[in-house]
Amino acid sequence: MRALVYNGPRDVSVTEVPDAKVERPTDVLIKITATNICGSDLHIYEGRNPLDPGMTIGHENTGEVIEVGDAVIKIKVGDRVSIPFNIGCGFCRNCERGLTGFCLSVNPEMPGGAYGYPDMGGYQGGQAELLRVPFGDFNCLKLPEDAVDKEADYAMLADIWPTGWHGTELARVQPGDSVVVYGGGPVGLMAALSAQVKGADQVMLVDRQPDRLKLAEQIGVTPIDDSDGTHVDQILEHTRGEGAARGVEAVGWQAHDPQGHEVPNQTLNDLVKSVRATGGIGVVGVFPPEDPEGPDKLMQEGKIAFDMGEFFTKGQFMGTGQANVKSYNRELRDLIHDGKANPAWIVSHHLSLEEGPDGYKHFDARDDGWTKVILHP
Ligand SMILES: NC(=O)c1ccc[n+]([C@@H]2O[C@H](COP(=O)([O-])OP(=O)(O)OC[C@H]3O[C@@H](n4cnc5c(N)ncnc54)[C@H](O)[C@@H]3O)[C@@H](O)[C@H]2O)c1
Ligand SMILES: [Zn+2]
Ligand SMILES: [Zn+2]
Repeated sequence: MRALVYNGPRDVSVTEVPDAKVERPTDVLIKITATNICGSDLHIYEGRNPLDPGMTIGHENTGEVIEVGDAVIKIKVGDRVSIPFNIGCGFCRNCERGLTGFCLSVNPEMPGGAYGYPDMGGYQGGQAELLRVPFGDFNCLKLPEDAVDKEADYAMLADIWPTGWHGTELARVQPGDSVVVYGGGPVGLMAALSAQVKGADQVMLVDRQPDRLKLAEQIGVTPIDDSDGTHVDQILEHTRGEGAARGVEAVGWQAHDPQGHEVPNQTLNDLVKSVRATGGIGVVGVFPPEDPEGPDKLMQEGKIAFDMGEFFTKGQFMGTGQANVKSYNRELRDLIHDGKANPAWIVSHHLSLEEGPDGYKHFDARDDGWTKVILHP
């Protein structure tokens, strides 16, 4: 089959690899119809969190079931399904509690497994014609009869919408809250949408890319341009000087100043300043345990200088980690089906698998208008 594989920093290509197949009786095999490029894939692409060369990338997968193992009873050939980026077993202590991002069975190295991602169990990704889905009955979310018509919306269920939602859960967003989101990439835009769906009174989003700020504005989110460094003051002005009740971090450790210099502690410390006393901060942007290529000595060891004193004095709280996609994807699917949300408003490009390497180049450069790319193998 054809697959998009990682060769080395900023070098991906579409090549012939062995067909994915049913390996265990609990597996489901799907033909991929939509597979998105994610900001997390850019950490791989840039060689900052590299995959083993030759491995297939891709954890945001949607497709049609073409074969099921003997022990699969719910999912049938022909079903259209969304596949959470996390792989869960369904029976470990964490999966039983809905914490499928931290499954204890699928990755011998640490809690949590995923497709096409370093240190997540060695599973091949879905930017390919076929994908093997372990524990298929547990991991496949069946899509309704409008699966094809609304494919771009449903394609947001594999990762970014549940992840944005998770950011608002970690920050404990309540109806009537003011919410500030740092990062206007796909995850930040989905966090802003999630805050609105939850009934937030006011949602603000900080970035410096005009196309991304415009997408935020399109759904009634207040865009905060941080190009001149006044973003914290702008947020305080919008909130009677108090700061937002909740904040979401959707950038990660490769946060940079508007000139492009990486400052790994920038967004977290800006959030401490932007969120009011006793407010909550949800961190879904990735912070890795080490980054040998990191801009400073601390970050090379996975550490940052955090404003703990102000965080403590303000009595704030913080939640972090991979999104537990399965905890949210069923209800978010129903919102799409019933026409209550259209997360695909951020999708800018539909490309073939062959065009994938070019898509990586543009998305990585944050080229104007490249906000979210879906590949159709
Ligand atoms: N926790 C999870 O389960 C999970 C899942 C998916 C993605 N992620 C992570 O979420 C993060 C965002 O993903 P994405 O796809 O939206 O990525 P992206 O790279 O497209 O978007 C990041 C955005 O942040 C902006 N930015 C950079 N520095 C900033 C700063 N100092 N202040 C404000 N904005 C700044 C950039 O201009 C960009 O628009 C990544 O770290 C990704 O790995 C986490
Ligand atoms: Zn993703
Ligand atoms: Zn598990």
